[in-house]
Amino acid sequence: MKKILITGTSGFVGSRVAKAMGEHYEVLAPSHRECDITRPEVADEYIKIHRPHAIVHLAALSNTGYCEQHPEESMRVNVMGVAHMADAAARYGCKLVWFSSDQVYNGNCELGALSEDIAVCPENHYGRHKLMAEEEALRRCPDSVALRATWMYDIRREGMPTHNNFVLNIEEAIRQNTPLRFATREYRGITWVDEVVRNIPHALELPGGVYNFGAENHLNTYETALAYLDMMGCDVPHIAEPDHERFAAHVRNISISMRKATEASDGAIQFADTVEGLRRFVNGEW
Ligand SMILES: NC(=O)c1ccc[n+]([C@@H]2O[C@H](COP(=O)([O-])OP(=O)(O)OC[C@H]3O[C@@H](n4cnc5c(N)ncnc54)[C@H](OP(=O)(O)O)[C@@H]3O)[C@@H](O)[C@H]2O)c1
Repeated sequence: MKKILITGTSGFVGSRVAKAMGEHYEVLAPSHRECDITRPEVADEYIKIHRPHAIVHLAALSNTGYCEQHPEESMRVNVMGVAHMADAAARYGCKLVWFSSDQVYNGNCELGALSEDIAVCPENHYGRHKLMAEEEALRRCPDSVALRATWMYDIRREGMPTHNNFVLNIEEAIRQNTPLRFATREYRGITWVDEVVRNIPHALELPGGVYNFGAENHLNTYETALAYLDMMGCDVPHIAEPDHERFAAHVRNISISMRKATEASDGAIQFADTVEGLRRFVNGEW
């Protein structure tokens, strides 16, 4: 069995990745305390001792609002943490796959599905730090793979943390009978985390580089919410209200094209688009 080091396994994505990969790999899952990624000597020592075949690096500060308020900590964890893993991966010859974000596109004005080769100018610390981390990782470890993930969702699962997400937010709004506002001037992919988890083994085979990684979506966020309510057979469509004012300065388009990762993996990496993904999620068709 190949040995895989997964960081961030007490988190939303990491807990699910560790469970799924544990069926096919020997998984090393150190806690934050056992392997603090902001301390290069600790990460180096851990990898030197355990010599994993690959690293799936998911430890990070994932809350954009928190990163905005704590930019120095965000720099330490989301930039230097990735840089330290990249140094260790290069030194000990392990494949490094880690999660960047579609937030690197949040300052772009182009419409349509965005590809990895366009110039980006993120507007918040989280996005800027993810972009810096991409550059640092590739400079230090050219074989490393950065995955620009979209917003992910899942139901609550025992023993696994779950953030606020698209489906839980809507579920909560229905429960409380409190309408939620969804931006009509926002385009973004929204992906079931299980689909991400299933595609990670294929990402380990990608050549070094930066790849979009999640569901495409040509609908705006309000239309996506309506489509989801409709497929759930929801009799309270008023629960989704259009918000035409948000992102007034420019349409916020962070929707991705999956072409690069799909082609580079000879078709192995596949995501349903957002609405089809939600439909399969609702119908339990995975
Ligand atoms: N969730 C999404 O929808 C989404 C979307 C796009 C991209 N991403 C990216 O995907 C990755 C995983 O996100 P997530 O939602 O799973 O995050 P999460 O739930 O917030 O989990 C973060 C994990 O990182 C660990 N961690 C934080 N600082 C650490 C440090 N200094 N050393 C070691 N471990 C540390 C945390 O451990 P403790 O709790 O013990 O501190 C936790 O296990 C992140 O890179 C995130 O930016 C997520």
